[in-house]
Amino acid sequence: MNKIKLLLVILSLLVWPAVVQAGSGLVGGFIYFTPKAGKEIPFKNRDTILQTLTIKASNFGNDFNPTHRKTDTITYLKKKRYTLNGKPVNEKVPTILIRVESMEKDTVDGFYETVKEVLGEYFDLEYRVAVTGPLNYTDADILAKLKEKAPRRYSGNDDPNAVVFPLSKSAEWWDMETARRKEYFNSNPAVFGEGHIGHNGVGFQYIEMIFRKLYHSRGLDPQQDFMTYFEYPDQFAEAFDKLLNGLRDVKSNPEWNYVKEGPIFWGQRVRSLDQLF
Ligand code: HEM
Repeated sequence: MNKIKLLLVILSLLVWPAVVQAGSGLVGGFIYFTPKAGKEIPFKNRDTILQTLTIKASNFGNDFNPTHRKTDTITYLKKKRYTLNGKPVNEKVPTILIRVESMEKDTVDGFYETVKEVLGEYFDLEYRVAVTGPLNYTDADILAKLKEKAPRRYSGNDDPNAVVFPLSKSAEWWDMETARRKEYFNSNPAVFGEGHIGHNGVGFQYIEMIFRKLYHSRGLDPQQDFMTYFEYPDQFAEAFDKLLNGLRDVKSNPEWNYVKEGPIFWGQRVRSLDQLF
């Protein structure tokens, strides 16, 4: 074996654990539906389409009532707003978003394939995929605090608001050592200057109000590095806006200097496919 081949083997062994890790969480598939102009679902086809989708969806626990105890889940969202960097998006606005989750990526992809088959004629579809994973910057004591304070999952009646937010980080961020990246998360005025409270400092002010879930896309879906998902009741809508503004304030949270935000889907959780189409 020549030196280059040997180097490649060593490199692949180094990368392998990261790839396995990325494949070991809960896979989330996010399907965005943008209506095609002049292509409404014909009335005569609607029942058949809904029936096909309902059969496929019955493999998943309906997250409108998250007490189903299934790992494979489905969440139905109707658009309230669609924004990019705080401003409304005017073109190609998705009106519906479905999230499917499973430990098996094939199961998630399979649902998307069915959607494409029966609804691809009427909607432009966008599909984003990500996976939950181990925490990179969180110590045991912070984790304990996160677990203690985070709200349990509520039904769509109690927490009707859901937000889906893809985002990426710059090459400069990824070039930093993990230890350096970790410094951005906790309050660190000695390093970043007065007023720095970091991602956790901002987040912990709102943790009891917002249900949150983080997925990673690197190595799985080039469209973004992360997918983030949140739920909250109407009474905390303002708190969610403040949370977002707090994270975007690069003085208190310079981590955001490295963030490229994707479009935010502000959704209303609904109970069934029938309420979506
Ligand atoms: C409810 C308040 C929040 C709390 C308590 C919180 C807490 C955390 C913690 C502890 C981590 C580190 C995870 C790790 O160790 O890998 C993290 C990562 C992350 N959070 Fe939050 N967060 C909150 C809100 C948000 C919001 C509103 C967003 C999106 C706008 C967000 C986006 C992210 C992203 C993208 C990461 C991954 C960062 C990276 O790995 O580089 N978080 N969050």
